[in-house]
Amino acid sequence: MRIKVRDALAAESPLGGITVSGWVRTRRDAKGFSFVEINDGSCLRNLQAVVDHAVPGAEALGTVLTGASVSVDGELVPSPAKGQRWELRVSAFRLVGEADATFPLQKKGHTAEFLRTIPHLRARTNRIASSLRLRSRLAMAVHEFFQARGFAYVHTPVITVSDCEGAGELFRVTTLDPAAPPKSPDGSVDWAADFFARQAFLTVSGQLEAETLACALGDVYTFGPTFRAENSQTSRHASEFWMIEPEMAFCDLAGDMDCAESLVKHLVRAALECCPEELEFFNAYVDKGLLERLRLVADRPFTRITYGEAVDLLLASGRPFEHPVKWGENLQSEHERWLTEERFGGPVTVCDYPAAAKPFYMRQNDDDRTVAAMDVLVPGVGEIVGGSQREERPERLEAAMRAHGLDLEAYRWYLDLRRYGTVPHAGFGLGFERLLMFVTGEGNIRDVTAYPRTPGHA
Ligand code: 4AD
Ligand code: MG
Repeated sequence: MRIKVRDALAAESPLGGITVSGWVRTRRDAKGFSFVEINDGSCLRNLQAVVDHAVPGAEALGTVLTGASVSVDGELVPSPAKGQRWELRVSAFRLVGEADATFPLQKKGHTAEFLRTIPHLRARTNRIASSLRLRSRLAMAVHEFFQARGFAYVHTPVITVSDCEGAGELFRVTTLDPAAPPKSPDGSVDWAADFFARQAFLTVSGQLEAETLACALGDVYTFGPTFRAENSQTSRHASEFWMIEPEMAFCDLAGDMDCAESLVKHLVRAALECCPEELEFFNAYVDKGLLERLRLVADRPFTRITYGEAVDLLLASGRPFEHPVKWGENLQSEHERWLTEERFGGPVTVCDYPAAAKPFYMRQNDDDRTVAAMDVLVPGVGEIVGGSQREERPERLEAAMRAHGLDLEAYRWYLDLRRYGTVPHAGFGLGFERLLMFVTGEGNIRDVTAYPRTPGHA
């Protein structure tokens, strides 16, 4: 019976007649037997197999190098070695697939930069495998959070015709031949001849569609891939990333912030509870302050300030920021990090941003210059959540859409929500990779994504 290394290491008592299959991390030879460290990806730790040179199949041992795949039968017995409770006393050894000395992960301690050059193999390292296991577990925890609160999981389209964030950072979806597209009489590309009979794009956010579903189902959430053709070469931006977007009917900005903060706390607690070995690993090798920071976040309330208060604090800090702080401009990453890392030493939720810096759909505040927006900022990463209460008043929304230069006819369906049974509603987007950066202490989004897509790299 094949069992996973994770289950073997968690055994309560010795187990006979088991099979363990995985990849060889190291082999050490002694007189008459060899030690083979097997990792099958089910957990961080390896299982040590002790192979007597007299057992069937042991003659292959000489060619068993780091990276080879093996399958071994044997008995799980208490290990005399330090630091491990169990080892496998092998009764039959099988080399499944050889790996020769060119296997690039021979030694421990490769740099993250080197590992990025071998995305197809790097998941066999503790660092990437740990981050992928955390990612899997936290994806489940996202669903647990919303399902326990009665939210419906909805799937908004990946191919869309609207630019939710209005930043024009869309990837085009077309079947036209770029070298010879059909032309209209005026010489421009005839998009009516394209696959969808109009221009289409990959979505930057499922929000607008999620709003329509929230105004039917009450509370909904999406969790899926989003795409941004934003040419920013930073450690926190990817061209393809996963976003969690809840949308709640009969909810205001305060309820929105409550939900976002609870979700972040829930995910941090889930990581601490479900992946302690992985977090110990990141704490030891990637970010020494990680565990302490995560425990604080799980226990303490988040600081809440308005954008105006944030600007005042930044101006009073006396810091020579690269981007000067000015009321009306969006906060830059260096400003966000000063607030969370230096001023408050923990997560900060900032609300009521200037309208001019934000998209058309945010609810206008009574001061006529700010909107009911909120961002959650965390140490080490900066913004991980962006959200708002939505403008539910039809005249106000129409005016904002005009001011943003939108074609009202194309957004008729969105305006219909305000015409038929409009309700106050709010939502946010949590960048899944940004959250994973926070939970692992990884400083680069490329290292919490199996196959990162960034400008110039796919
Ligand atoms: O602040 P953003 O642009 O908000 C929206 O898209 C809203 N429509 C969400 C909503 O209200 N339903 O993006 C939300 C989050 C950011 O806070 C950040 O965590 C992440 O998505 N994000 C990115 N993550 C990785 N790479 C990028 N290029 C990202 N852009 C945004
Ligand atoms: Mg944002």
